[in-house]
Amino acid sequence: MFFARLSWAVSLTAALAVAQECTLQFDGRIPNELAAADFDVANDIFSNAFVLGQGLVFSQALRILPVAAGSLFDIDLETEPVETLISDDSIFNAQVAFRRAELIPTSNDGADASTQGVKTLHFSVLKDGVRPLNLSHEYQLAFLESADFSTNQFVLKTGSILGQATADPDTLQLFGNLNDGQLLFNTTFENGVFHNFALQLDFVQNTIQVFFSRANDALESVVDAVDNDLSGQGQFHFGLLKKPVNGVGDITVDGDQPAGINEGIIYGGIFQEDSADGCISLSP
Ligand SMILES: *[C@@H]1O[C@H](CO)[C@@H](O)[C@H](O)[C@H]1NC(C)=O
Ligand SMILES: *[C@@H]1O[C@H](CO)[C@@H](O)[C@H](O)[C@H]1NC(C)=O
Repeated sequence: MFFARLSWAVSLTAALAVAQECTLQFDGRIPNELAAADFDVANDIFSNAFVLGQGLVFSQALRILPVAAGSLFDIDLETEPVETLISDDSIFNAQVAFRRAELIPTSNDGADASTQGVKTLHFSVLKDGVRPLNLSHEYQLAFLESADFSTNQFVLKTGSILGQATADPDTLQLFGNLNDGQLLFNTTFENGVFHNFALQLDFVQNTIQVFFSRANDALESVVDAVDNDLSGQGQFHFGLLKKPVNGVGDITVDGDQPAGINEGIIYGGIFQEDSADGCISLSP
């Protein structure tokens, strides 16, 4: 009898601990049976067309990591991290001074519900010690680009930010809408550990709230909801967008981009939940 009651109590506690099951808008966590080549063809996780170098397929621009390498929100589902890779060939759409390899959720067509209402965007980023970035350059690692391509409503960057005297380029730097250029949050980009972000995006009130943790720690609010123009819908990008140095004018086509690039960044736990009713997952 005692044991029966105890196990009832334990299972109730377990049920409460996982009670935070928010409705998902999209899920970019990769089931463990999938391989890089599965992203060369149409699939319901990420676009197989955008964004990567002309003439490449995604199996040349990404690498799937084992389930055991999973991030905070991969572990329970046994989903796989994915690394986006750039080389000298990662020239998208004649942007000869950029190098790009980015994942866009398949359902995120630029006018869908992922940029309406109140949504929480989750993703985790990890350095690849074998394919390090060149911190003399600026990189975008995750951003929302408006449907008319006129701005990024938020953007996570690392490296030496163009036009700024970046104190420490080995940092993760989250900026609000590029029209204001406000730095919302920054933190050191540590080696060998996932950095977990959840961005609560209120497309009605035009605010952003930032949650953050490292490794398998539960997310904590690090920036309260602040005003940030989120209008213009658009698409979420996860991957490397490497900018040139010494560019003048249109830096998509002008600037230095030294040859021999072999760089990558690892992503885990990409998904978006509907937070219209306040639901947000701070831990799995
Ligand atoms: C890093 O980038 C700078 C600026 O483009 C370049 O001068 C330097 O050679 C690069 N370093 C490596 C290791 O590629
Ligand atoms: C974050 O940015 C502030 C303001 O620019 C700066 O003083 C601080 O050193 C930065 N912190 C990190 C970890 O880069």
